[in-house]
Amino acid sequence: MTAIVSIHSYRGGTGKSNITANLAYLAALQGKRVAVLDTDLQSPGVHVVFGMEKERITHTLTDFVQNKCELEECAYQMSSALELDGGGAVWLLPSSMRIEDIMRVIDEGYDVGKLNMQFAALNEALGLDLLLIDTHPGLNRETMLTTAISNVLVLLIRPDKQDFHGTAVMVELAGRLGVPNIAMIANKVVSRIDHADVKKKIADAFGYEVVGVLPLDEDMANLGSRGLFCKLNPDHPITHELRSIAARLMALASESDGDGE
Ligand SMILES: Nc1ncnc2c1ncn2[C@@H]1O[C@H](COP(=O)(O)OP(=O)(O)O)[C@@H](O)[C@H]1O
Ligand SMILES: [Mg+2]
Repeated sequence: MTAIVSIHSYRGGTGKSNITANLAYLAALQGKRVAVLDTDLQSPGVHVVFGMEKERITHTLTDFVQNKCELEECAYQMSSALELDGGGAVWLLPSSMRIEDIMRVIDEGYDVGKLNMQFAALNEALGLDLLLIDTHPGLNRETMLTTAISNVLVLLIRPDKQDFHGTAVMVELAGRLGVPNIAMIANKVVSRIDHADVKKKIADAFGYEVVGVLPLDEDMANLGSRGLFCKLNPDHPITHELRSIAARLMALASESDGDGE
């Protein structure tokens, strides 16, 4: 069964899109067939991290949820651009950057049920091991519904009081939605704070496993979403940490499969 992993945070700018894209790349390097869905229809961006040229995008998730195309038509093979020559592959399903499309989504919302229903067909067509969902931050109906069908919900958090308060709300909601597994990642942790302490503090506060702690990193900030950090920096400590996060998330996802979810 394909693992569905949603990457979410209460606030924007937490690192969702960059972390999602890099996890997809690292999982593909391990031979996995991965699709990345940009369900942040109001403020799309993960295609930028993948370096996807705008001209290549003819069909988007926004078109799909507005009944203008099939889901498979929005799936762009990224494997050659990412120079993946092992068994792994990455497809990207981007959202529309057109102002009219975004305004319409903000005004009218979208039929997330339709999206959820088509995941199985997409998995079948592409033979996926992993579906990674990049989300819109905060509490919103669409994200709640995609979260509800995920095997694993990853909550990203920065060491910031606003993030802690908001994440508590997200955790409570995810519990109510019955997500089989919740995993937490601390991002942008400054070097003067002990990472083991951060991990413990988050685990104690929320009661879920912290699968990784990532530093606030100058190289990452300097890259500014202009590429895949792990591809450009294969031996960087962030890449090592993300590699271990990817492995742990795959393990958690297969545990929840085993539960028959
Ligand atoms: N660990 C990190 N250290 C420094 N900058 C980071 C780190 N993680 C993400 N960033 C930067 O933070 C910004 C927001 O990241 P992004 O992935 O777009 O967040 P989100 O999708 O949650 O809004 C980007 O400029 C990105 O390069
Ligand atoms: Mg984003």
